[in-house]
Amino acid sequence: MSEPAAPAAVSMEALVSLCKRRGFIFPSSEIYGGINGFFDYGPLGVELKKNIRDCWWADMVRRRDDVVGIETSIIMHPRVWEASGHVAGFSDPLVDCKASKQRYRADQLFFSPVTVEGRVIGYVSALESERTAEELQAAAEQLKRKRAVQGQLAPVTPRDLTEAKPEEIELIPSPATGEPGSLTPPRSFNMMFQTNVGALTDASSVAYLRPETAQGMFADFKAVWDTGRVKLPFGIAQIGKSFRNEITPRNFIFRSREFEQMEMEYFIHENADWAQCHRQWINWCKDWLKSIGLPDSHLSEYDHPKEKLAFYSRGTTDIMFRYPFGVQELWGIAARGSYDLKQHEQASGVPQGIFDEATKQKFVPHVIEPAVGVDRIFLAVLCAGYAEEDVTDDKGQVEKRTVLRLSPRIAPVKVAVLPLLKNKPELVARARLLHQKLQRRYAVFYDESGAIGRRYRRQDEIGTPWCVTIDFATIETDGSFTLRERDSMQQRRLQEDELFALLDQQVY
Ligand code: GAP
Repeated sequence: MSEPAAPAAVSMEALVSLCKRRGFIFPSSEIYGGINGFFDYGPLGVELKKNIRDCWWADMVRRRDDVVGIETSIIMHPRVWEASGHVAGFSDPLVDCKASKQRYRADQLFFSPVTVEGRVIGYVSALESERTAEELQAAAEQLKRKRAVQGQLAPVTPRDLTEAKPEEIELIPSPATGEPGSLTPPRSFNMMFQTNVGALTDASSVAYLRPETAQGMFADFKAVWDTGRVKLPFGIAQIGKSFRNEITPRNFIFRSREFEQMEMEYFIHENADWAQCHRQWINWCKDWLKSIGLPDSHLSEYDHPKEKLAFYSRGTTDIMFRYPFGVQELWGIAARGSYDLKQHEQASGVPQGIFDEATKQKFVPHVIEPAVGVDRIFLAVLCAGYAEEDVTDDKGQVEKRTVLRLSPRIAPVKVAVLPLLKNKPELVARARLLHQKLQRRYAVFYDESGAIGRRYRRQDEIGTPWCVTIDFATIETDGSFTLRERDSMQQRRLQEDELFALLDQQVY
């Protein structure tokens, strides 16, 4: 069960509505009714997403001497996914409701016996949420009333459906119908999307859309080692689309079926201090999230319990983010030993070992893997940045403003250029000139329509950090213009070279 959400600063409804209204995100193929688990990024969304990727690439690859980037194909040889274990084991437990035809992830469907005075009078169920236990308790009380049973009701004991005994399954009500008898026992559902390569559609042509980008780095490890002039420790990074046939895509873009990952495999010596390296990467990832504007107060760490780790894994820590729907995984940092390279060595027959000059021995490197989803970061920055607040205008009137406090590093528009009046050609000409100059380096927006206050509000809502207003003082006196800051709403005058210096410092 996810941890309870802190008092939500923002409702998901408000965010989804802003995303649609201002062109950040649309449901995919909406004119045909949409397709569950797929999304389109609109004009502002695509800029924001690109900025997240570009910042990560700049900090993770270009500004480091020990990480190189690659881009591998989405469809790889199917044996890659056999060797990696995905064909056999990349699955979630699936439960069907035979009556409603709904499907659930068994580990997200919770149930409890309803016990009165030590006697089980029935079962209740609820889908995972931050209020699962309360919902089960309320359902238990309702069942007790319905059955008119007297006596003390015991507190519910939530378990998920993977923990149900076979004889319990048919007693647990389906969340869709509220009636028992229609849920099937959990079974494994492989989440990889299958396709066929070439003209034949038989077993020999089966291929998969990759469910993670990581295997591209493992499959190309030797090619990069042989050609990239790299030495240990070093990393291979990649950004790209991944596909998972999630049973229950949900929470907007948090869990979707097509998403984008930014992953890096950091190869270390087999005798290196892996725990220290793991810690360093956890710290790096947290600092990076803060550098793009996520507040420390929304971030936490979750160490996977040792007994739930895969046998080859030495440790996995997730950086968690406080979303409006609960505290959830944002970034996983896993210490995977030499498992992946050894699997590929065995399956392909191509040695993956490298020669250590110091010990004059060959060994297969170990790996630390920070893996994050671009879409989850996108959602996190929107959740952290969104605010509705009361502001007082110059006439003393209180009005609502919606503001997206996005870091200048990732804001889709960096500056809006606004001539004070659109019917004064001198103002418009100066504003257009500044707009053109800024456009060479930054995403900027020109807007001359409407009252200046309304134009500021439009920019606040899409997260533009600065508005520049060209007024009469600009053309009649020293050429300076008004800079209005989104968060403080303070205004000050500055010169063009000062504006470029400000942008250079803040947008990197
Ligand atoms: N190579 C390791 C790996 O893929 P993962 O925890 O399955 O690990 C890494 O995925 C990250 O990818 C997650 O922390 C999350 O940010 C993102 N992610 C995973 N599944 C996702 C989905 N269905 N929708 C959006 N993002 C997802």
